[in-house]
Amino acid sequence: MLRARIAVLVSGGGTNLQALIDCQARGELPHGVLSLVVADKAGIGAIERAQCHDIACAVIPRREPGFEERVQKALTAYEIDMVVLAGFLGILSGDFIETFGKPIINIHPSLIPSFCGKGFYGLKVHQAALDYGVKVTGATVHFVNAIPDGGKIIAQKAVDILPGDTPETLQHRVMEQAEWKLLPAAAEQVARELVEKGKTTWNDRI
Ligand code: GAR
Repeated sequence: MLRARIAVLVSGGGTNLQALIDCQARGELPHGVLSLVVADKAGIGAIERAQCHDIACAVIPRREPGFEERVQKALTAYEIDMVVLAGFLGILSGDFIETFGKPIINIHPSLIPSFCGKGFYGLKVHQAALDYGVKVTGATVHFVNAIPDGGKIIAQKAVDILPGDTPETLQHRVMEQAEWKLLPAAAEQVARELVEKGKTTWNDRI
């Protein structure tokens, strides 16, 4: 069966990566195969998750020169068809996106267009939602283009903010109720579209 080869870019603990791994293990990612994890720094939890599940992992420090060229090389070497940003905290350049030329999707922990764009990442997003006083937040999966958090939206899910929430409690609720479900479902949707359009070459029966 043809499948889209997926690379996952990570910067942290990797709970969204874990959600993708669990989804694949349940057979709910039938059109994709997790083929590579790219960690943008050493020592992050996501690396261990990849290793535990025998997924190839490249550590490419984001702050070092040549980061994007090295990532691009790894994507080519692993014949990657699509990229998932799962808690990746860098911003990819327009050149990178154009050179790769295949779908890149991202999970963002708010309802875009609120609390998004440059400087909004991780707990800062939830702090901003609490500071503003909104009563509902959520998560968004979108295609990545040259505008940070500005690409076409694939899926969104709302999550209530509760009295007494801290950035940490809110982050956990948004992950549990929205991110860990939305991201794997969106990855499968994009992978299926690639397979149906004949844009994948990898066949797991060869
Ligand atoms: C997640 O909440 C993800 O949505 C967010 O970082 C966290 C990473 O957690 N991403 C961004 O803020 C991107 N702008 P994880 O490493 O446990 O998946």
